[in-house]
Amino acid sequence: RTARITLDPAFAVGDVNPRLFGSFVEHLGRCVYTGVYEPGHPAADEAGLRTDVLELVRELGVTAIRYPGGNFVSGYKWEDGTGPAEDRPRRLDLAWRSTETNRFGLAEYIDFVAKAGGEPMMAVNLGTRGVAEALELQEYANHPGGTELSERRIAHGAKDPYGIRLWCLGNEMDGPWQTGHKTAEEYGRLAAETARAMRQIDPDVELVACGSSGQYMPTFAAWEATVLAECYDLVDHISLHAYYEEKDGDRGSFLASAVDMESFIENVIATCDHVGARLKSKKRINLSFDEWNVWYLSRFQEEAERNPGTWEEAPRLLEDNYSVTDAVVFGSLLIALLRHADRVTVACLAQLVNVIAPILTEPGGPAWRQTTFFPFAQASRYGRGRVLTVNPAGPVYETARYGEVPLLHATAVQDEETGAVTVFAVNRSQTEPLPLEAALHGLSVGRVAEHSVLADADPEARNTLAEPERVTPHAAGEGTELADGVLRTVLEPLSWNVIRLV
Ligand code: AHR
Repeated sequence: RTARITLDPAFAVGDVNPRLFGSFVEHLGRCVYTGVYEPGHPAADEAGLRTDVLELVRELGVTAIRYPGGNFVSGYKWEDGTGPAEDRPRRLDLAWRSTETNRFGLAEYIDFVAKAGGEPMMAVNLGTRGVAEALELQEYANHPGGTELSERRIAHGAKDPYGIRLWCLGNEMDGPWQTGHKTAEEYGRLAAETARAMRQIDPDVELVACGSSGQYMPTFAAWEATVLAECYDLVDHISLHAYYEEKDGDRGSFLASAVDMESFIENVIATCDHVGARLKSKKRINLSFDEWNVWYLSRFQEEAERNPGTWEEAPRLLEDNYSVTDAVVFGSLLIALLRHADRVTVACLAQLVNVIAPILTEPGGPAWRQTTFFPFAQASRYGRGRVLTVNPAGPVYETARYGEVPLLHATAVQDEETGAVTVFAVNRSQTEPLPLEAALHGLSVGRVAEHSVLADADPEARNTLAEPERVTPHAAGEGTELADGVLRTVLEPLSWNVIRLV
């Protein structure tokens, strides 16, 4: 049976904010050390940044880069990462039971973001610190000069302020695992007071309040409502975090993970708008999906129980090696974000290098692309513009977790300058090709420029150090055609597809 969609620019979701293609660098495992930063590596630049990694990060097309955590931030003193490297203290990192050398800090991060062509997105510690330290960081980073803190930055070699606009007010404060975990009431008050004070320095900062660490949290939705009741007028975004993995061999449900992601987004929108309605506010809170990915979290948790960590420097942690199946689910998560581009205005793929990441490296060795690299790079490149409303009709399959789910998951983005349209589509069937027909209305496209497919005869195939290019996208066969206003194609089983119409 055929899946059918209609594409018509008269029916659009909204414009994609480039920040939807953000990512995340946390002091965790080897994301920073031997990931983005490795002085002495043959490819390191004068600042110790790996240029081979930077090249891949630019190819990936990431925009906002969130830093320095994650759970790490809740025990972090930002001052430790400033000033001469040899004076910086070694500290315990409670979140990941590692030793933090602080050789990489704020200046190195800002340098990395600039070289990567991204935008900084800085988290403040609201776990073990508070309003005063957030203000001090903001003043150090952003004030031009003439005060002790801004002059300290200048003395550290940064004459120009860093101009950080986007700030996260803590991280996952609803999670009992978070150092300095708080109730919704406690956090809501702290977020409000921090936001109010940060706006006293600069009314134009953009602030993200912590939402829930997942839709599965027992406090989900009540948390958002309570926090926003305190800080609705003071913040711009509420955060969402979600990770997906295949559990108990239930691949059908895993392939439908975006069903959960979309319902999470829609439930957070409903909660935000409910608070807005109660406050009789015209303002709308947007969503910062600032941690999302496929993550084999239960494997990590089992391992952490066996070996809780020995305070190593930059240990190998969370180094998931992604399969083709993982990349198809990952692509579907990107589709879910794009389908809600009107309200999801920031999203960060967690994380960027080595730690649940699209890029892997070896210390002293090469850097290479995981399977998940490709859907992200293609979506960031071709998913800019206006998202068209896509309501797939057609075959469904039964899942243990989500009931009946469509085999097709899709979205389409129109480049408003050129009129080109890119369809992003996933076939969730593990065995059957899926015929797709898209009726085009009011679009000035005449031909198929490209149909790129990520699929493999072996759905477990991965890119490894030994075989770093085992999986790459390939061009679809002859069968993708645009004629008489209808796009016709057949999607391979278990595939991620990018169809560009120009
Ligand atoms: O991205 C890994 C961890 O996942 C982050 O530190 C934390 O915020 C989340 O639980």
